[in-house]
Amino acid sequence: MKRKKFKAVALAHLDQETIDQIRIWRNQDFVRLQSLRQEIIDEATHQKWVEQLKGDDNRHLFVCYLDDEPLGVIQLNYDPDTDMVESGEYLVSEDFQACGYGTILQFFEGAIIYEVLNYNRSCGVVLMTNTKNVRLQNRKSSVQEVNVHIKVGDADREIMRVSMTKEDFVRDKEKTLKLVSHFVDPDIEVIL
Ligand SMILES: CC(C)(COP(=O)(O)OP(=O)(O)OC[C@H]1O[C@@H](n2cnc3c(N)ncnc32)[C@H](O)[C@@H]1OP(=O)(O)O)[C@@H](O)C(=O)NCCC(=O)NCCS
Repeated sequence: MKRKKFKAVALAHLDQETIDQIRIWRNQDFVRLQSLRQEIIDEATHQKWVEQLKGDDNRHLFVCYLDDEPLGVIQLNYDPDTDMVESGEYLVSEDFQACGYGTILQFFEGAIIYEVLNYNRSCGVVLMTNTKNVRLQNRKSSVQEVNVHIKVGDADREIMRVSMTKEDFVRDKEKTLKLVSHFVDPDIEVIL
């Protein structure tokens, strides 16, 4: 079987059509309802957010492709005070769920965080109702804090906080690479 090639393209290299498409991908119920911000994002809000990202070296947005087909979106926000990158990601189609694509996307996300951008620690928040992501996180060497409750809109929601170091990523890498490299060339191409 011919392996697919993973490519991540940073915001600075995306055309306006792709930037507009991100809003449509992000507004899909299967993504929106697993996010901390659950309202539908309008065009003006999206464009304002994109402009903020463009002017901030600590924030990164990547559209990811497998053989030039859109796969997912990765967003990273680095906080210099805590020396942590907050990460979030989603697949661009509900049809891609539960086929291993999330495993592939999160693997390359780790490679971008620790090996391309050279950050040391990452963190994230997962709603406990997001069973797919909870299961993915449970497979990793991340530190998890559970039984945390936060307000999402007006609702009290249980979340899991996860944090991971570069050492954790390296520890998991070989195992995940075995799985991922059956389907995808492990050499990452990142257009920064
Ligand atoms: C979260 C997300 C990236 C996971 O991607 P995915 O392709 O669905 O995940 P995978 O196919 O790689 O499978 C991951 C795990 O979910 C499990 N899973 C798959 N379908 C499932 C289902 N219907 N119910 C529960 N678990 C399921 C898989 O078994 C696997 O766990 P296991 O191998 O340990 O058993 C993807 O679903 C997504 O984009 N969701 C919407 C946005 C989102 O939640 N982003 C994360 C924000 S914190």
